[in-house]
Amino acid sequence: MTSILVTGASCGIGLGLARHLLTVPSLANVIATVSTLESAETILSYAKVADLFKGLGMVNGSRPKLHIVQLDVTNEESITNAAKKVSDIVGENGLDILINNAGVTHELPFNEPIPMEKLLGMWQVNATAPLRIANEFRPLLKKAASLKGSAQIANVLHNCVPPEYAKNHPNDASYTTYTKSKVAMNNLTTKIAEEWNEDKIRVTSLDPGWVKTDPRPEAADPADLTVDESTIPLMELILSLTEDYNGKFVKTELQ
Ligand SMILES: NC(=O)c1ccc[n+]([C@@H]2O[C@H](COP(=O)([O-])OP(=O)(O)OC[C@H]3O[C@@H](n4cnc5c(N)ncnc54)[C@H](OP(=O)(O)O)[C@@H]3O)[C@@H](O)[C@H]2O)c1
Repeated sequence: MTSILVTGASCGIGLGLARHLLTVPSLANVIATVSTLESAETILSYAKVADLFKGLGMVNGSRPKLHIVQLDVTNEESITNAAKKVSDIVGENGLDILINNAGVTHELPFNEPIPMEKLLGMWQVNATAPLRIANEFRPLLKKAASLKGSAQIANVLHNCVPPEYAKNHPNDASYTTYTKSKVAMNNLTTKIAEEWNEDKIRVTSLDPGWVKTDPRPEAADPADLTVDESTIPLMELILSLTEDYNGKFVKTELQ
C-alpha cells in the first residue's frame, strides 16, 4: 500500500500535483493538506477543493483514496495533529512520499525597508517549516522505508538554488528574500540526505518550472507553464526518484 502526502494542496502546484496523483492506480492514499478548515471562507475553499477532486479516483476499492488533512505548516500543534491523522490513515505501512510544496511566493522589495513580520513569515513557511514537518513525519517515513527499502521527501524549490543563478541575475530584487529562503530549503535537502541515509529516507529538491498559478482568468501571468504542464512531469519525476537523486537538485525535462 503506497501513500503520498502533498502540503499546500489548496491551489496552484500543490492542487495540480494532488489531482494528478489521484489518477495513479498504484497509490492507495493521496493525502492533500490545506492550511486551515476553521473559518467559513476556508471551509468553503475546502469544499471547492473536494469538488475539484470529484471523479478523479477518490476511492480505492471500498476505501477513500483522497484524504484532506488540515496542516498549517507554521503551527506546531497543527503539524503534530496532522502527523497523527496521517498515521491513522497509513497505519503500519507508513508514508512513502512526503512532498513539501507549501510555500509563500510573493516577492519583497530589496531597496526598501521590508517589514520584519513579512520577512520572517516567508522564511518560516519556505525554510524552517519543511524541517519541522520532516521531523514529525520521520517515523512514518521510516516505517515505509523499512518495509519497502526506501521512502522519499520531495522539496519543491526554485531554479534560484544553483549558485550560478545569483551570478546570472545580479539585479534580482527577490534574491534576499524568496530566493534565500529556497536556498536554505535546498540546504535542508543536502543535510537530511546525509543525516537520514541510514533510515533509507531519501530527499530531493525539485524545480517545477515557472508556473502560471494565479487562478484569476484575467491575471496577466507571464509564467511559461500551465499548472498541468508543470505538475504532470513533476509528479512522474517524483514517483520515479531513485537513490541517484538523493540530496540533489533536479529539474523536469520540459524545462
Ligand atoms: N509558481 C511557480 O512558478 C513556482 C516556481 C518555483 C517554485 N515554486 C514553489 O512551488 C510551491 C507552490 O507554489 P505555487 O505557485 O503553487 O503557489 P500558490 O499558488 O501561492 O500556493 C501556495 C500553497 O502553499 C500553501 N501555504 C502557504 N502558507 C501556508 C501555511 N502556513 N501552511 C500551509 N500551507 C500554506 C497555500 O495554502 P493556503 O492558500 O491554504 O494558505 C497554497 O496551497 C511553493 O513552494 C513555491 O515556492 C513555484
